[in-house]
Amino acid sequence: MSQNPDSTQTITVDLGPRSYDIAIGPDLLDNAGALIAERLGERHVVIITDSNVGPIYAERLENSLAQAGHTGRTIQIDAGEQSKSFVYLESLLNDLLQDGLERGTVLVALGGGVIGDLTGFTASIALRGVEFVQIPTTLLAQVDSSVGGKTAINSPHGKNLVGTFYQPRLVIADTNTLKTLPPRELAAGYAETVKYGLLGDPEFFGWLEADGAKVLEGDPTAQTRAIVRACEMKAEIVNQDERETGRRALLNLGHTFAHALEAETGFGDLLLHGEAVSIGMVLAFDLSVALGLCPAEDATRVRDHFKAVGLPIHVPVHPNGNWNTQILIDHMGRDKKVQAGRTTFILVRGIGEAFVTNEVEEAELVRLLDTLAKAA
Ligand code: NAD
Ligand code: GLY
Repeated sequence: MSQNPDSTQTITVDLGPRSYDIAIGPDLLDNAGALIAERLGERHVVIITDSNVGPIYAERLENSLAQAGHTGRTIQIDAGEQSKSFVYLESLLNDLLQDGLERGTVLVALGGGVIGDLTGFTASIALRGVEFVQIPTTLLAQVDSSVGGKTAINSPHGKNLVGTFYQPRLVIADTNTLKTLPPRELAAGYAETVKYGLLGDPEFFGWLEADGAKVLEGDPTAQTRAIVRACEMKAEIVNQDERETGRRALLNLGHTFAHALEAETGFGDLLLHGEAVSIGMVLAFDLSVALGLCPAEDATRVRDHFKAVGLPIHVPVHPNGNWNTQILIDHMGRDKKVQAGRTTFILVRGIGEAFVTNEVEEAELVRLLDTLAKAA
């Protein structure tokens, strides 16, 4: 097993006493025990992973933790979005408490965004808060969900509606774990990577147009560059607006549409979150063009790039019939970001120039979503 700590890149999320590092590089799983010990000392550690990731990576992480002097065990839960629920939360908390969870125990999330969100939420409420470390193993989690401290489970009323802002003590992104990620999941994470270019870095988007396919082909240099740039941007935004009172909302580019599409398709396999975000970003550009805010050429570039890398730009066939504009608008009205009854949208003045607004008239939305329903 190759270890090359020299190729590790470190980005710091700068939040005063809650600051932490994001370490990015190949085979960091084998160095995770030492990285944790450097920052937190030798600790009792509980790894929380899922039924896909655990069998591939848990043993390597356990060995690395033991070598660095940590003690601990692993809890494996079912893979899939359904684990971000009250039922799984209760079961996980009971498992931890039954085993004698102490304030000094460190929880380690080994997996994608589902494991990261559930573990983070659990860490934030167990014994009124224990420390946790993120070891993201999907591209989506490495570029987005493991950084910034949003934790959540879903409620019957909607996705991510129950949660906390609770920062990890360290994020370790082992780029080689992406080698076992199913291609569709890699592509879904790629959509969240492109988001950073579209919201605030046109040069990054230009690089992705030229070299983004390499990220999807598994080129380690391209993957590292993409993850590092995404984490730099996310860290910079979170440093300024940890609790999303302003600028952090830019990270939701495409998400108001995406959440409505996901709600309609049941948050399942028909449309992965990143795929919904891909369509949602196309819609955000289309809406911006329709409102006269953004040049049509920029929307075309976004569409062309997603098409070129195999990401969806149209909604899939609706599971129960036709897409219904009013139902989609109703879903948007239940979004967390609704303020005084008005839905928040992230719109653009061009590639790399996103802004937050809740000034979109429903008539404009209806026009846009009617076209969507016809295109499906
Ligand atoms: P996921 O955690 O469900 O992982 C996707 C699939 O890949 C799962 O089947 C998982 O078992 C498998 N997997 C993970 N890593 C693997 C690997 N290296 N090799 C093989 N299989 C692997 O999904 P995700 O896309 O990582 O995360 C989606 C979740 O993240 C959603 O619940 C979403 O709400 C949340 N999210 C949170 C934030 C945040 O800021 N907290 C941001 C974006 C998304
Ligand atoms: N993924 C959006 C955020 O972290 O704010």
